Amino acid sequence: MAGNWKLNPSTVQEASSLLKLLASNFIHHRDNNSAEVVQHQLQPEVIVFPPFPFIERAVSILEGTGIKVGAQNVGTAVKGAFTGEVSTSMIRSLGCDYVMVGHSERRTIFDETDEIINTKIKLALEEGGLKIVLCVGESLEEYENELLSSVVNLQIKKALKDISKDQIMNSGGGCNLIIAYEPIWAIGTGKVATPVQAQMAHVVVRKTLEELYGWDIANQIQIQYGGSVTPDSIADLMSMADVDGALVGGASLTADGFTRIVDGASSAASGLLPRLPPLPPKELTALEVVSCKNVLGESPIWSVKDQALYWISAPEEEVWTWNLIDAPYRRLFGTTIGCIALRGSSSNNGGGNLLIAGERAFLETRMTQRGENMNDFSSASGEQVSVFCDRPEQTETTRPNDGRVDREGRLVIGMYNNYHRSGSSEGENNCGLYRLDPITKSIQSLFPSNYKYRVSNCISFSPDGRTLYFCDTPTRKVYAFDYPESADGTLLSNRRLIWTMPSNLPGGPDGAQVDADGGLWMAISGAGLVVRVHPSLPGIVDYVVHLPVKSPTSCTFGGIDLDELFITTRGPDGGGLYRVKMPFGIRGLPEPEFGSSSGSGTVPMSPVSYPQQQQQQQQQSVVQEKPIAPPPVYGSAPSYLDTL
Ligand code: PGA
Repeated sequence: MAGNWKLNPSTVQEASSLLKLLASNFIHHRDNNSAEVVQHQLQPEVIVFPPFPFIERAVSILEGTGIKVGAQNVGTAVKGAFTGEVSTSMIRSLGCDYVMVGHSERRTIFDETDEIINTKIKLALEEGGLKIVLCVGESLEEYENELLSSVVNLQIKKALKDISKDQIMNSGGGCNLIIAYEPIWAIGTGKVATPVQAQMAHVVVRKTLEELYGWDIANQIQIQYGGSVTPDSIADLMSMADVDGALVGGASLTADGFTRIVDGASSAASGLLPRLPPLPPKELTALEVVSCKNVLGESPIWSVKDQALYWISAPEEEVWTWNLIDAPYRRLFGTTIGCIALRGSSSNNGGGNLLIAGERAFLETRMTQRGENMNDFSSASGEQVSVFCDRPEQTETTRPNDGRVDREGRLVIGMYNNYHRSGSSEGENNCGLYRLDPITKSIQSLFPSNYKYRVSNCISFSPDGRTLYFCDTPTRKVYAFDYPESADGTLLSNRRLIWTMPSNLPGGPDGAQVDADGGLWMAISGAGLVVRVHPSLPGIVDYVVHLPVKSPTSCTFGGIDLDELFITTRGPDGGGLYRVKMPFGIRGLPEPEFGSSSGSGTVPMSPVSYPQQQQQQQQQSVVQEKPIAPPPVYGSAPSYLDTL
């Protein structure tokens, strides 16, 4: 998969920023210490072709990511009085692995002939260590006159004139040549060839290569399709037998777009493996049950003890609760909230029933059903809310985000990069993942100090508590880790990729919860879906919940039998709380409480009984308690709205 930046972007600063974002997306593919590498053997080779002035920077920023760098062009002279020219040895010495020749823009705008192209290829091959992407393709007029075969056949033969098999294959058995078939009528026009059109043209290319070098070699030369490739079109193109990759122009100029194209290519490639086709997922639909209009609903948790659901609206500084019968209500906390956790009664010393990961500190509070005495919270000061302890990373560039309590009663909390979507440090991975001990209040980092990310999400545990799921949302990949139960400083280990979000879905994985069978239910923010990744078949989705709004943010199991999925959403089109009854046999586990070792919990096995009365309570009116004064804090932190 190759990205052709053409004459973009305008400055080295913009180029660096794009390169850093790419590096941060792709570094996740290349963790040599993890089993994930095995899964990524299908990962396509990735090459970027920046303009000459950015090459050196590209090589240095992309080092260690596995992404290769190529030059978009090269001159026809080796050295001497050729003002303005660039030689193969120059680009090779910068660390380029590839050089592109024969792009249609060079042929048409700069009058490059097949003879010039042939000279450049010979020079590049003689240089040693440089591989070639040779672009070919017909114009619209040629296509309409059915000249595709003869044009492409001739272009390849002339470009490769007097180049032997031995030059095409390198000494290590690899191939020095990639052909990019790019119909000129599809380049930069938004008109992508249909997969069948691309396949037919690629067969012409393959046959020409066979004529020149025989079947064995022709079969090893990769043929890329180019021309308006997007994340939406890549999977279908790659499903064609002779489409081995893509040369991407416009869509390679954003890290997200290009990453989605590479991901789309790899999932399409893995589809070529001989394996039984999975059954289509079962479809469910969630309905709105509380129209709470949350700007950013998050962190739903069900308390078996309270028989109530709690959730937050992060930037509105609200915690909500609903017992499924009475009117839901909310309280304001005067601090942006990342997530909440239930507090175990055994060790909370009267500190309330909720732990709140506030923007500036962990808080404890009592949040009960309306009508109960809210003042039975007996913290030292008798206040309804107090600081439990400082939060990790006491800096304004991050804040607490997703989190869940482990089976030992400790809170695992991930951070959010406040500047992720704006400003010069947009691409910085500066967040860590932590574990808060309820007794000692100590905070342990769970990732090695050099492993940072942007937006924590999907944090949840397997039923036995030994596996932690995690996603850095912008990468659209969900990982499983071995979770260290002991508090001896052991870190998360054995990273496995369990799901890559398909390129045709917009948005990214957000909050998640695991069911009693270990299935991972993930809110896909932006796509209006919650999906279950099958526990024993990583990568396979077997349930899909549809929502009528775009951005579900998280989900959890609740209700008397823990067999309903509650889904928080965000504005502007969403914001309500949604609910869907699970198919027979699927249910959740009791939510572990911060401060009590709850094991994997026992699932109530009583028959499903859903009182008539509850079904009538679809839209509840909201009762708002009076705002609570925020507790003492250190410093101030930027507010955020555009947050997953
Ligand atoms: P495009 O360019 O993807 O913007 O159409 C492809 C290319 O010219 O290589």
